[in-house]
Amino acid sequence: MLELKNLVFEVPVKEGSKETKRIIDDLTLTIPDDTFTVITGPNGGGKSTLAKLIMGIEKSTSGQIILDGVDITELSITERAQQGIGYGFQQPARFKGMKVKKLLEIAAGKKLPMLSCNESLSKVGLCSADWLTREVDKNLSGGEVKRIEIATMLARDPKLAIYDEPEAGIDLWSFDRLTETFRSIHDAGGGRSIIIISHQERIIRLADSIVLLENGKITTTGTPDEIMPQLGLSRKMAMGCQLTEPTRLHITEIPTTC
Ligand SMILES: Nc1ncnc2c1ncn2[C@@H]1O[C@H](COP(=O)(O)OP(=O)(O)OP(=O)(O)O)[C@@H](O)[C@H]1O
Ligand SMILES: [Mg+2]
Repeated sequence: MLELKNLVFEVPVKEGSKETKRIIDDLTLTIPDDTFTVITGPNGGGKSTLAKLIMGIEKSTSGQIILDGVDITELSITERAQQGIGYGFQQPARFKGMKVKKLLEIAAGKKLPMLSCNESLSKVGLCSADWLTREVDKNLSGGEVKRIEIATMLARDPKLAIYDEPEAGIDLWSFDRLTETFRSIHDAGGGRSIIIISHQERIIRLADSIVLLENGKITTTGTPDEIMPQLGLSRKMAMGCQLTEPTRLHITEIPTTC
């Protein structure tokens, strides 16, 4: 279980200034084991910053982060990774000279049999015969590098996986497979929790719990059925209609037929 207690992250208003602004504002949230949580909200609301605070990439100004009863607030990124936290960046890094297979093995922390590599890559719609020996360099498209990063997270299989806008740049056909993958990780249980930061209606609908983050504060939490109307999405979808109404949060609609 992940517990965030009164988490605050402040930055200087401008470089060198003593005046600060709050990006994460006294945020308290519990993510139980075996749950699928979606964090959504407007651009600049603090979603990626919150993910970086949990992973230890940014250091909180105050507050506590507790994982399975252990205070990890002062732990480094590596130590948190060892505790079972994984973070898939909104904009993944590229690694010149690094082949996909090597990257998967670094993520998994061990040599991987071909079958495991195939499995992780196929879940993101990539054929390992074409991809294992490719370099994760600037020649890859945005969607390809995003898919490879998701595959590395799948290979690692962390206890708490945080995916930051996994849908970004992923085409409709692969997106379907990806949503199935998230659902099956969740259904597999084993104490794993998934947090997905997303604007995607289809992903939001998969979640056990939705957290709406605005201006660094949680303004609403609830199940998809409770939250969707508040996001401005029609309940019609839940009744089998594929049409949705415009939303004030610009949640992206993906057609279920192409
Ligand atoms: N280290 C920092 N210094 C200054 N400002 C920052 C810093 N980190 C984040 N911010 C600002 O905090 C706000 C929240 O950023 P964040 O990336 O968390 O938003 P987000 O909710 O992920 O948005 P998006 O939906 O566009 O990805 C933004 O206005 C961003 O510019
Ligand atoms: Mg973001």
